[in-house]
Amino acid sequence: MSHLIAPSILAANFGNLEADIQMINSSEADWLHVDVMDGHFVPNISFGQAIVKKMASLCTKTIDVHLMIENPSKYIEEFRAAGAEIITVHEEACTHLHRVIHQIKECGAMAGVALNPHTPVQVLDNVLEDVDLICLMSVNPGFGGQKFIYQTLAKIKAIKASLIERNCHAKIEIDGGVGLQNAEKILEAGADVLVAGSSVFKSENPTQTISRLKGLMG
Ligand code: DX5
Ligand code: ZN
Repeated sequence: MSHLIAPSILAANFGNLEADIQMINSSEADWLHVDVMDGHFVPNISFGQAIVKKMASLCTKTIDVHLMIENPSKYIEEFRAAGAEIITVHEEACTHLHRVIHQIKECGAMAGVALNPHTPVQVLDNVLEDVDLICLMSVNPGFGGQKFIYQTLAKIKAIKASLIERNCHAKIEIDGGVGLQNAEKILEAGADVLVAGSSVFKSENPTQTISRLKGLMG
C-alpha cells in the first residue's frame, strides 16, 4: 500500500483558511488533518465544531479530526455531524477506550486512537482488532513546529509487527515534526500516514512539498 499525506491545518494561515484549503484540494494530499485542542488535555486551545464544519464544507479531501480533548465521548457525534470522516481520540483521555472506539464507528466514522510519546504501544493490545487508525504522537501534543522524537521509530516498528502478526487492518499515522528530512525513515519503519503541518505550510511551495512527501518511497 502506498502511503498517505495529511497536511495539518494548524499550521495554515487562520486569516484566510479558505485559500489554504483550496491549495490542499488541488494538491496531492490525501487527508486534511484537523487538530482540536481544549486547553485541558493539552495546554493549547485551537478551534471547535463550528470551524471544523466550515473547513469540512470547503475541503474535498478526507477530514481527519484529532481530538486532543478531555472527555472526547461527549463530542463525537457533534464532530461527525460537522464532517469528520476519521475521529481520533487519545488513549490517555479515555477510561473506557473500547466503548469510545465503538461509539465512533457507530456514528459512521473511522475510529482512531492516538498515543502520547511516553505511552507504550502495548496499551492497544486489547483493541487492536477494533481500531482503524493508530496515531503515534512524535511530539508532545499541543503545538505545531516541534522536533520529531526519534524513539517513535521503535514504536512504529513494534506496532507494525503486532498488526501484521494479528492480521489487523489499522493504519499507522505519525503526527509531529514530520518533514522531508525524516519522512523516509518514518515510512521505512512502517508508517502509512504522515501528518505534516509546519513542513508543508511554512515551506516556500506547499503544493510541491506535499508532492515531494507523497513521492517518497514510490
Ligand atoms: C500537535 C498536533 C499536530 C501538529 C503537527 O499537537 O497534533 O498535528 O499540527 O504539526 P507539525 O507538523 O508542525 O509538527
Ligand atoms: Zn494532530
